[in-house]
Amino acid sequence: MPTSTVLVTGGAGYIGSHTCVELLAAGYEVVVLDDLSNSSPEALRRVESIAGRTLTFVEGSINDPSTLRSVFSRFPLSAVVHFAGSKAVGESVEKPLLYFQNNVAGTVTLLQEMKAANCKKLVFSSSATVYGEAKVVPLKEEMPLGANNPYGRTKLFIEEMCRDLAHSDPSWHIVLLRYFNPIGAHASGRIGEDPKGIPNNLMPYITQVAIGRHPHVRIFGTDYDTPDGTAIRDYIHVVDLAEGHVAALQKIEGLAGCTAINLGTGHGYSVRQMVDAVSKAVGKEIPYQNVPRRPGDSPVTYSDPSRARDLLGWTAKKTLDDMCRDSWNWQQNNPNGYHQI
Ligand code: NAD
Ligand code: UFG
Repeated sequence: MPTSTVLVTGGAGYIGSHTCVELLAAGYEVVVLDDLSNSSPEALRRVESIAGRTLTFVEGSINDPSTLRSVFSRFPLSAVVHFAGSKAVGESVEKPLLYFQNNVAGTVTLLQEMKAANCKKLVFSSSATVYGEAKVVPLKEEMPLGANNPYGRTKLFIEEMCRDLAHSDPSWHIVLLRYFNPIGAHASGRIGEDPKGIPNNLMPYITQVAIGRHPHVRIFGTDYDTPDGTAIRDYIHVVDLAEGHVAALQKIEGLAGCTAINLGTGHGYSVRQMVDAVSKAVGKEIPYQNVPRRPGDSPVTYSDPSRARDLLGWTAKKTLDDMCRDSWNWQQNNPNGYHQI
């Protein structure tokens, strides 16, 4: 197979950096376009050191057509893996226009420049959030879609745009990867999730409690209709997720049109089980307090991952213990993330 050069938008971020490692390991040439609005260039230096290969970094935004045009003219890009975007649900409620601009308009600009460059293979970071308030589990790709907040709506709109685009021009190959709950870090402990400010997501919050940055975990809701009363999610190791992107790129030639694919494990764990699992990895009890439900949260969400197995030959391999060990390893080695204080 001839060497393929791939553009990775948002490649300095949490999932993007892990995917760059796997793409370099699989032999791809990688060009990262990232405006560093939610990431550090240190992540990319570490990606190169883990992979033992270099990548090209262009600092810039998907909202800037001239930057995109120059990237498409400088490199022989065969496909785009598109992570760039804003992802904080709460912020999207306060600043919806920012989310529509950065996620939806940014993706329109990217698609226009891809079309102009005749680069028509796209792997897009979608989310299980497009299932809205899940009523039936496991979630299958053909189930009805919805959105509970502006962030979720941006993912839904982008999915719809991609379906319309592929319908209008059958030479597009678009894979919409619907991630469930990515956690964990690279086994080296050198790259991982580095949230700005106080984390909204459960796993970084738990590991920050374990390292002493917060007094206790707040468990949002203990009155759900689940075995221990706390909400259930399908947590997936970020390295499994990264490998899912490589599998999507390897199969994209055979996937004409627009194809949505869940990336999850197919298993759900409750918030209490997560606190217990991290306590085991850390070797001490992590303090928690029960507080009321967080508005907008679904009680139980987990995937049916069979389409990923059938179409991509991909299944998640890592266990909950792997996820907790690697999250904790990253947190311990980098108590301030990429910022050395
Ligand atoms: P992240 O914030 O760590 O990574 C996103 C990257 O995109 C960052 O490096 C940021 O600097 C960059 N970026 C943002 N706007 C940009 C722009 N206009 N131009 C260029 N770069 C820009 O987030 P992540 O967790 O790695 O998520 C990656 C993608 O996956 C996002 O699209 C997110 O919505 C989606 N996703 C994430 C999760 C999750 O739980 N982490 C779940 C489902 C889907
Ligand atoms: N939770 C707590 N305490 C916390 C944080 C979270 O109890 O401090 C609970 C939540 O209520 C939820 C579970 O832990 O029941 C998981 O919450 P996260 O915020 O980690 O993840 P979500 O499932 O709410 O959302 C995540 C991403 C979204 C994405 C969605 C897809 O943050 O961007 O998965 O399902 F859209």
